[in-house]
Amino acid sequence: MRIYLISFILLSVISKIYCFLDGHPEGRGGQESVQVNDRIYYMGGSRLIRSLKRYNLSDEVFYLDLSSLFNTANPPFTDLTDGKMLYGNEKGIAVLGGSSRSDIYLVGGTQVNLSTINWNVTNQTINWNVTDQFIYIYKTVPNTWTKLQQGVKGTQPSRRRSTSTVIKPNGTIYIFGGRVEQDMGSSTLMLYNDLYEFDTIQLSWKQITASYAPSPRSHSTATLLPNGKIIYIGGVSQDAVGSQTNLIIMTEIQIFDTNSLSWSTRTASSSSLIQPRVGHTAVLTSDNNSIIVMGGTSSYQLSQTTVYPNLMKLDISSEPYQYSELKPSGINPPPPLSYHSANIYSDYMIIAFGNITNDVTDSTETNSKVYLLYVPCLTWESTFNPGRSDCKNNQKPPNPPNLNIIIGCSIAVVVVITGIILCVKFRRNIFECFDSDHGNNGSIDTIDRDLPNEQPT
Ligand SMILES: *[C@@H]1O[C@H](CO)[C@@H](O)[C@H](O)[C@H]1NC(C)=O
Ligand SMILES: *[C@@H]1O[C@H](CO)[C@@H](O)[C@H](O)[C@H]1NC(C)=O
Ligand SMILES: *[C@@H]1O[C@H](CO)[C@@H](O)[C@H](O)[C@H]1NC(C)=O
Ligand SMILES: *[C@@H]1O[C@H](CO)[C@@H](O)[C@H](O)[C@H]1NC(C)=O
Ligand SMILES: *[C@@H]1O[C@H](CO)[C@@H](O)[C@H](O)[C@H]1NC(C)=O
Ligand SMILES: *[C@@H]1O[C@H](CO)[C@@H](O)[C@H](O)[C@H]1NC(C)=O
Ligand SMILES: *[C@@H]1O[C@H](CO)[C@@H](O)[C@H](O)[C@H]1NC(C)=O
Ligand SMILES: *[C@@H]1O[C@H](CO)[C@@H](O)[C@H](O)[C@H]1NC(C)=O
Repeated sequence: MRIYLISFILLSVISKIYCFLDGHPEGRGGQESVQVNDRIYYMGGSRLIRSLKRYNLSDEVFYLDLSSLFNTANPPFTDLTDGKMLYGNEKGIAVLGGSSRSDIYLVGGTQVNLSTINWNVTNQTINWNVTDQFIYIYKTVPNTWTKLQQGVKGTQPSRRRSTSTVIKPNGTIYIFGGRVEQDMGSSTLMLYNDLYEFDTIQLSWKQITASYAPSPRSHSTATLLPNGKIIYIGGVSQDAVGSQTNLIIMTEIQIFDTNSLSWSTRTASSSSLIQPRVGHTAVLTSDNNSIIVMGGTSSYQLSQTTVYPNLMKLDISSEPYQYSELKPSGINPPPPLSYHSANIYSDYMIIAFGNITNDVTDSTETNSKVYLLYVPCLTWESTFNPGRSDCKNNQKPPNPPNLNIIIGCSIAVVVVITGIILCVKFRRNIFECFDSDHGNNGSIDTIDRDLPNEQPT
């Protein structure tokens, strides 16, 4: 009997260590994401606190490692505990810039000092004002946040969030629009239509004044094309300071040409109605021919319900630009999301986090998972295979740590089950198996919890 008891305890300890996938970040929405070589860095976001029915802004920074094969059941996240943000933050935009293209520039967003937050009040005290620091820099080596140094040239824009922001390969950031409201320390809801350049090499601001700028707006996605044009899609606009916002129709495409410094508008065609939205994402496919638009929500300010179509392609290879709905095959589609992250790497669209929306009411769930769309074959997949070049399901065996976990857990489970079966058969009563010479070292509760849940997925 002792042998069963000992192996049971030993194996449940082993399976606790190897089978539980600790360190997986909590679900969240409104986080920022940016690709840095073969990693995607995620930061901030709002996490649901069920007991309070409130959202807690995150100050975390962590990355997803894309250098080797992984399964979405166990995404290789690394938490950068030392690199926590100065504030809890969401709804900013992160881009990679600086002279060595290794510094993350976090542009705008809400911020809350997590050590002074008062959960008893709905409105947090905003301990900064609109003229304060607008860009924070995260050095990926050695994982520290810095503020812009003295000597920055030009005048920075006032603080704002939900801007439409991209960086050109030469290190110049283009920040368009955005908004302030209560959560930004402004008593008035105000959307912007100004456009600023921030040169991350010279550290200089410049406001660009060009004719035909769109109406003030926030939440539009910004996608940079290789020809230097920026494509703005969706979001909301505002007619007058303080007035309510209007959802922008998705077929209205605003374009800013960073070479000629000029604005223009296109009307995209679509065979079906596309619901307008905020909290969506837009990524350029690696053939540079189309933009994949995903998720978001229409019922802004009322509740966060799902938008349709939820996943589409905007073909920009010829004019007029053309929308079409995408219906990928595959067994691992994401739930409908808003305020999620989407990044393209090695032809995979990597979707992470976000509010899970539904057709009826507010989203009450946040997503903690990673989903993969393999763009060339239009399939939802569960294995990230960076070397992949065709549509065959040619997945290599899982990498060694996964294999060890699977083997280790399988053996553990089999041995423990066998042990219990034999023991019960021998003792005729499961309680006696754990109530022998060594006392209550195990319990039914432990068995229930350990056995079914700890199998690897
Ligand atoms: C997620 O949804 C909830 C409920 O609608 C909302 O309060 C929260 O602000 C959303 N998160 C983001 C980042 O928009
Ligand atoms: C909010 O987040 C901070 C930082 O992650 C954490 O220390 C704090 O306990 C959280 N507050 C609540 C009420 O969950
Ligand atoms: C947050 O508040 C604490 C307590 O008032 C203060 O010491 C700290 O400097 C604040 N953090 C930032 C980044 O402002
Ligand atoms: C929040 O409310 C609780 C209960 O009323 C109280 O004990 C606590 O001191 C309050 N916290 C703050 C920061 O006001
Ligand atoms: C709290 O925020 C709401 C809007 O979200 C605003 O109407 C109200 O005046 C604020 N209350 C305080 C005390 O600032
Ligand atoms: C707002 O910023 C200005 C300029 O930096 C500063 O003089 C002022 O004290 C700030 N106000 C608050 C409330 O922090
Ligand atoms: C990058 O290009 C833009 C124009 O395309 C120019 O205004 C800017 O100065 C350039 N930045 C650098 C660092 O060369
Ligand atoms: C798409 O644009 C990028 C950036 O200019 C370029 O490196 C890449 O070769 C282009 N891809 C194709 C298929 O033309």
